[in-house]
Amino acid sequence: MGIIEKMRLDGKAAYVTGGAGGIGKSIATALAEAGAKVAIVDLEGGKAQEVADEIAQATGGQTLAVQTDVTDADSVNQMIETIVQAFGRLDIAFNNAGITMNIPAEEMSPEDWHKVIDLDLNGVFLTSQAAGKVMLKQGSGSIINTASMSGSIVNVPQPQASYNAAKAGVKHLSKSLAVEWADRGVRVNTISPGYIGTDLIFEAEELQPLLEKWEEITPQRRLGKPEELQGIALYLASDVSSFATGADFIIDGGYTAI
Ligand code: NAI
Repeated sequence: MGIIEKMRLDGKAAYVTGGAGGIGKSIATALAEAGAKVAIVDLEGGKAQEVADEIAQATGGQTLAVQTDVTDADSVNQMIETIVQAFGRLDIAFNNAGITMNIPAEEMSPEDWHKVIDLDLNGVFLTSQAAGKVMLKQGSGSIINTASMSGSIVNVPQPQASYNAAKAGVKHLSKSLAVEWADRGVRVNTISPGYIGTDLIFEAEELQPLLEKWEEITPQRRLGKPEELQGIALYLASDVSSFATGADFIIDGGYTAI
């Protein structure tokens, strides 16, 4: 089988959390284009349904929308059950839902700290664990968690200690799961994007004055586009990456190289 054929995902079942958001939607589209059945998982059930319908129409593939709160273990378990019932299996878990808060550390309330850690780190554990259980039983599966370059470097000038800590946690959590499950057919890797133009960035008022600065300090002098993460997603989701586990893939226009 040639390399391009090996990247196809026909017959495979996938889900993407935060699937109604910028990066999630783009990755879900790529997985569906490659032939996978894809569940769009999001807190925003209506938006998830719209995205699922749009992708099904564009690709002719089978999609599903599952309204889920990834910070709630019962909701996550229900989500996995629904997907396995609909698709018959689970091969690709893309745990991608996340938020950021830009608050100086000395002013951050415990509630806000917990909000970020709960979604960006605990949510990734709950979804990885629930997906991992199904995959370990199957003896195969690829879990891809969205970390960030913020898990390796400290962004400036915005204060985002909670986000940086959570994303560093996602990277090491994923490495730990990868090692625990490596000889049982389940791979776990992280994708770490640099600045990508999505609602996460465009809808936060306090970040708007920073966009130009970010472009300036990124060697490619621009923000990335969600579709520029599709290639790495497809690589990690498919059997092409069969020897890759416990690794972090930084896609950042050169930001962390300097
Ligand atoms: P986005 O804001 O466009 O999408 C996030 C999605 O997550 C939304 O659809 C939202 O409804 C959903 N969500 C929020 N809370 C949820 C919950 N409790 N349960 C289920 N879904 C929930 O954000 P974007 O940019 O697409 O980010 C996706 C991931 O990529 C996040 O983990 C983010 O931290 C990460 N990332 C983003 C970068 C960027 O520059 N946009 C850079 C590096 C990482």
